[in-house]
Amino acid sequence: MTTSKIAVIGLGNIGQVVAGNLSKSQREFFVADRNLEKAKELSSNWGNKAQPSDIETAVKTAQIFVLAIPFEVIEEFLKEYSKDLVGKIIVDPSNPIAPDENGGFKKIIGENESAGEINSKFLPENAKLVKALGTLGAASLSESAYQNPEKSVLFYTTDDESINPEVESLIKDSGFEPLRIGGIDQSIRIEVFGDLHEFGALGKPVTLTEAKGKILNLTRSAFR
Ligand SMILES: NC(=O)c1ccc[n+]([C@@H]2O[C@H](COP(=O)([O-])OP(=O)(O)OC[C@H]3O[C@@H](n4cnc5c(N)ncnc54)[C@H](OP(=O)(O)O)[C@@H]3O)[C@@H](O)[C@H]2O)c1
Repeated sequence: MTTSKIAVIGLGNIGQVVAGNLSKSQREFFVADRNLEKAKELSSNWGNKAQPSDIETAVKTAQIFVLAIPFEVIEEFLKEYSKDLVGKIIVDPSNPIAPDENGGFKKIIGENESAGEINSKFLPENAKLVKALGTLGAASLSESAYQNPEKSVLFYTTDDESINPEVESLIKDSGFEPLRIGGIDQSIRIEVFGDLHEFGALGKPVTLTEAKGKILNLTRSAFR
C-alpha cells in the first residue's frame, strides 16, 4: 500500500465525487479549493480523512494531485505552482470540451489532439502526468464506485511506468479496477468521444472483463 498524500484540487462536480469515493478508503487526503471556506464546508461530508486546505498548502505538502479543474486553466495552474510541483504526480481528468449550439458538447482542441498530450507540454520539472479519473461522467463515477461483485474499470495513461503502483493504488482507493492503456499519446482514447470513454464508443461503465474484451475486439478490428 502506498502512503503518498493525495490532494484533490477543485471541488466542483468531479472533485466532489473523487473526494467522496476516496473517503471510503483508508487513505487521508487533502480537499483543496481556491475558496477555503467551500473546502471546509464540503469536507464534513467526507469524514475526518478529508482535510480541507487552501491550494498553496496542498501543493507544498501532497505528492499526488488530482486536478479537478477545467481543461482551460490547467496550463496556468501548472505554471503558477511549478516550483512546488517538481517531481510530483499530476493526475489529469480533464476533457477538452465546451457546450455547442445544439445543447451538446464540442471538442475545443483539434480533432486528433488530446488534453493529455497538450497538458504534458506544461509539466513542471520531473513531474509525471497521468490521464485518469475522467473516463466516466460524474454520475457514473459516483454510482459505479465500489461495485459488486466485479468492480468497474478506470483506464489510465502515463509515460512513466514507475508510477503505475501509485496510480493504481489511487484508482483502487477510489473503488475501481485500474487498467493502463499506454502512454500519454493514447490519452485521446480515454477522453470524451474516445473509444474508451463513457461518452464515446464505450457508452457505459464496464468491468475489467468487459473492458479487456472490448480492447481485444478493437485491436482485432484494426487488423481486418
Ligand atoms: N463533470 C463531469 O462529468 C466530468 C467528467 C469527467 C471529467 N471531467 C473534467 O473534470 C474537470 C472538472 O470538471 P467539473 O465538472 O468538476 O467542473 P466544475 O463543476 O465547474 O468545477 C470546477 C472546479 O475548478 C475550480 N476552478 C476553476 N478555475 C480554477 C482556477 N483557475 N484555479 C483553481 N481552481 C479553479 C472551480 O472553482 P470555483 O468553484 O471557485 O469556480 C471548481 O471547484 C474538468 O477538466 C472536466 O473536463 C468532468
